[in-house]
Amino acid sequence: MTLITSPVFIPEAHLKNTGSFAALFGNDHPLSLEIGCGIGDFVVQIAARHPERNFIAIDIFNQGCRQTCSRIERSGLTNILMMRIEARYLMHEYLGKNSLQAIYINCPDPWPKKRQRKRRLLNHDFLDLSLYCLQDHGELNFCTDFVDYGESAADLLHRDTRFENFTTTPYSHDLGDYPVSKYMQRFLDLGQPIFLCRYRKKTGLKIETPNLSKGFRLRWPKEKN
Ligand SMILES: C[S@@+](CC[C@H](N)C(=O)[O-])C[C@H]1O[C@@H](n2cnc3c(N)ncnc32)[C@H](O)[C@@H]1O
Repeated sequence: MTLITSPVFIPEAHLKNTGSFAALFGNDHPLSLEIGCGIGDFVVQIAARHPERNFIAIDIFNQGCRQTCSRIERSGLTNILMMRIEARYLMHEYLGKNSLQAIYINCPDPWPKKRQRKRRLLNHDFLDLSLYCLQDHGELNFCTDFVDYGESAADLLHRDTRFENFTTTPYSHDLGDYPVSKYMQRFLDLGQPIFLCRYRKKTGLKIETPNLSKGFRLRWPKEKN
């Protein structure tokens, strides 16, 4: 794994030393998180539309992080920072309660085999963690091309009374003005519909600090074991 030296790339140690994303951005604009940003095309589109908001793009693979950093630098946008970090770990350890205005998850790894489905990111524990991190009215945006994942995620979100839906149906194939990522475009080009789930956290909820147990791809630094 080669070192990423881009000015928009934030190693975990740097975040730990700086203490907050507000300090890293130099302002306290509302914060959004894109999980599994791939090559960074989605985050650059949405951040360009919203200069009044800050965005953190994360991925666990170096190649995607490198490409995202180049894309952010080329865009000239100053409201995006990139980290190579696992989503639940970042949310639990560094973001915390009421820290996020929005979460975006686009075409996450589908884990199509039945025995692998427990590896999927979106499950009940992840909803608890998201609700903990989201502010009142904060958005959880999720999309996938994978029918089984789209239907089960929509069902989980639709039945969770702590969320309110953007639309009357649990998911929509109409993307409206939602920016299209590389993977979304790939599936749209193949004629496969995207399942888009857009939900908001209701106001006035009492959310407990979630217990985060080890899970697939979720590892704590050595001193935490
Ligand atoms: C199928 S790709 C989709 C990339 C991009 N969102 C798109 O739509 O073009 C899924 C991405 O999620 C990343 N990823 C998977 N699990 C993750 C996790 N737990 N935390 C952060 N990133 C993750 C993978 O490394 C991969 O880049």
